[in-house]
Amino acid sequence: MVKNKKQKKRPLCLITGASAGIGAALAREFAKAGWDLALTARREAPMLTLAKELKRDYGATSHIIPADLSKPGACADILERLGKKTTHIDGLVNNAGFGLTGNFIENEWSAHKDFLTLMLEAPTEMTRMLVDGMVERRFGRIINVASLAGHVPGSRGHTLYAATKSYLIKFSQSLNLELQEHGIKVSALCPGFTYSEFHDVNETRSAVSKLPDWMWMSAEDVAQSGFLALSHNKAVHIPGAGNKIIALLARLLPDPWALALMNRNSERVRKGTK
Ligand SMILES: NC(=O)c1ccc[n+]([C@@H]2O[C@H](COP(=O)([O-])OP(=O)(O)OC[C@H]3O[C@@H](n4cnc5c(N)ncnc54)[C@H](OP(=O)(O)O)[C@@H]3O)[C@@H](O)[C@H]2O)c1
Repeated sequence: MVKNKKQKKRPLCLITGASAGIGAALAREFAKAGWDLALTARREAPMLTLAKELKRDYGATSHIIPADLSKPGACADILERLGKKTTHIDGLVNNAGFGLTGNFIENEWSAHKDFLTLMLEAPTEMTRMLVDGMVERRFGRIINVASLAGHVPGSRGHTLYAATKSYLIKFSQSLNLELQEHGIKVSALCPGFTYSEFHDVNETRSAVSKLPDWMWMSAEDVAQSGFLALSHNKAVHIPGAGNKIIALLARLLPDPWALALMNRNSERVRKGTK
């Protein structure tokens, strides 16, 4: 069991985007390893169901805090609502996210701004707010859920998505180095195509369902692999052999080739979608 040796009670991990997909699967991994959970997302009902499951299967206590992380001040509000429990948050999973459909000029600034608040500001701010306590206790575990998209060239559509995921990868690498001496492990988890609600939310389900099976992983496999990578303090982790090969190709191919390949394939994937 992963735990802070100085603590008697189960350590507490805050997971954003815990109402579905990879976030819910990571909550199961932490609970299985002996953690209690603070679960946050906008929808309360699925988190209540998950909390019951975590109690029944692993004896974990979950605190549910419905919140919209694309709104300024949401991080502070979540921690305020957790009250005294924030004094022992030893784990943080920055996972909440979605893909904003369309090209850059097809979305108003307000949509881009909300997206950046959710994808960049919230993980950075939440980390800053919780890391002092982890440093003090000389124990912490942080996962930033990035994406394979952060390892391959940008493409048309979902313009800011890959850029935000690249940011999370670099942020995690630096944090991993800076926080090692404080007993804190940091890992960027970079899944490829994963079965979750993600492609329903960004309206690409019908297109991506044509992709071959080898390109897909379950949220459970992604979470299991990511949790293990965190325990080994891997700064950047790409789950799945197929995803690792794609990332390697993107690194080895000359930039113009990688860009052209990415452009052709993403066009194909998004063809017929909004
Ligand atoms: N699925 C993939 O193929 C894939 C691949 C690479 C990376 N990822 C990344 O993995 C992470 C999790 O995605 P997923 O695949 O598990 O998708 P998902 O099933 O759609 O889950 C996304 C989670 O984020 C939450 N969320 C979205 N907007 C939010 C907001 N404004 N405020 C608070 N919570 C919000 C959602 O909860 P509510 O709707 O209840 O708020 C949900 O719990 C994301 O960061 C995504 O970019 C996914």
